[in-house]
Amino acid sequence: MAKQTVAIIGLGYVGLPLACLCARRNFKVYGFDIDEAIVKATNSGKSHIADASLVKNVKALKGKIIATTDAQKAISNADVVVVCVPTPIDENKLPDLKPLESACRSIAQHLHKGQLIIIESTIYPGTVREIVKPILEKSGLISEKDFYLAHCPERIDPGNKKWVLESIPRVLGGLGGKGTKIAEKFYNSILKSEILVLSSIECAEAVKVVENTFRDVNIAFVNELAKSFDRLGIDVLEVIKGASTKPFGYMPFYPGPGVGGHCISVDPYYLIERAKQKGFEHEFLMLARKINDSMAGHVVLLAESALQKSDKTLQNSNIALLGLAYKANVDDMRESPALHILQLLKSKGASPKIFDPHIMEKSNCASIDAAIKNADCIILATHHKEFVSALTAQKLKSMGVKAVIDARNCLDKSAITAKGIIYKGIGH
Ligand SMILES: NC(=O)c1ccc[n+]([C@@H]2O[C@H](COP(=O)([O-])OP(=O)(O)OC[C@H]3O[C@@H](n4cnc5c(N)ncnc54)[C@H](O)[C@@H]3O)[C@@H](O)[C@H]2O)c1
Repeated sequence: MAKQTVAIIGLGYVGLPLACLCARRNFKVYGFDIDEAIVKATNSGKSHIADASLVKNVKALKGKIIATTDAQKAISNADVVVVCVPTPIDENKLPDLKPLESACRSIAQHLHKGQLIIIESTIYPGTVREIVKPILEKSGLISEKDFYLAHCPERIDPGNKKWVLESIPRVLGGLGGKGTKIAEKFYNSILKSEILVLSSIECAEAVKVVENTFRDVNIAFVNELAKSFDRLGIDVLEVIKGASTKPFGYMPFYPGPGVGGHCISVDPYYLIERAKQKGFEHEFLMLARKINDSMAGHVVLLAESALQKSDKTLQNSNIALLGLAYKANVDDMRESPALHILQLLKSKGASPKIFDPHIMEKSNCASIDAAIKNADCIILATHHKEFVSALTAQKLKSMGVKAVIDARNCLDKSAITAKGIIYKGIGH
């Protein structure tokens, strides 16, 4: 496969690392994106995503990824086209396939015989056959005769140093045998990991939504336990620690302020909606979504009850919200629980100080100290390493902090309470 041409459609968290990997493996790489700023940054060797290895790679590969807003330039020369565009939900929490459909229309205009089109975006079972294929066939070319279609869901975990793009095992499904074989060869030429070929493209589509739904329901389970064990006076973290000593049949998940990111809080809706179209109601999955979405409100309630102890309310208190990103050590705010907490705080009349060292443009304080000084209550929404190392009991005391809501259960509860500071974790 070496020296073939690959076009990556969508240069985001998924597409940009893939473009880098293909360039490192000596493919000629085009990156097509509708965002001019991303195209410009990539061509000048700058990663628009603040991830250390991406920053290094995009710089080193300057000139080797030809980013463009011109679909024809990217697609008409490519042997393999990999689609990495967003698949979000709309305001009614329904799958929004507009970016995918639009990307497919761009491909259809420049599709040529022999091309392999791979969808890496997360989609529900049936999307490639029922939505992608008809759009591409508007070109006049026939799938599995003139061009090939496959799906290989991306599993990248931004910020994870152990499991990186090339080492994460993958699953693959194609609409036909020949296309599946070409796709398998393509991934074997760029990845070092196992590629499991499934018997149908629908199975491959289902894998990704199932993986993320698995996380969502298990997190909902511990979040519900956290609320229940609060009433029972039991520390859920200790229970999880105990249960984790069982070497089989148990896997630890941890409670928190809810789930965010472009995947876990979104993908279950893809499965829920697809099953609904076919007459099945995923009650369990809907409940998990509801429980996880309720956690931001739970965090705000904890803050209100901590303030009540000193006869204060959210309106007349000095509140600090630490962290906006949906997970530690990244700058990604998509679907972040911190944003829901912020919205609730504001709706209840609070004017919090906000600080996230990874998202300074949305912070209204320049440092941790500026945010927490004399705070009646701090809410730790994201466990960035900067917060975990800085927020010692000593520091909190010296800054005059009265209460801590540790929505990530990552601070030293006993040391903090020993200083006379109110501490409340999630079920801890
Ligand atoms: N972010 C993750 O950690 C992750 C992990 C695994 C899978 N996924 C899935 O991968 C897909 C992409 O996610 P992402 O996080 O990279 O999204 P992203 O928003 O970071 O990047 C998508 C890029 O596609 C571009 N784009 C949008 N519409 C386009 C179009 N019609 N033509 C060309 N470019 C277009 C956008 O400008 C953007 O740069 C989604 O389906 C997501 O669920 C994401």
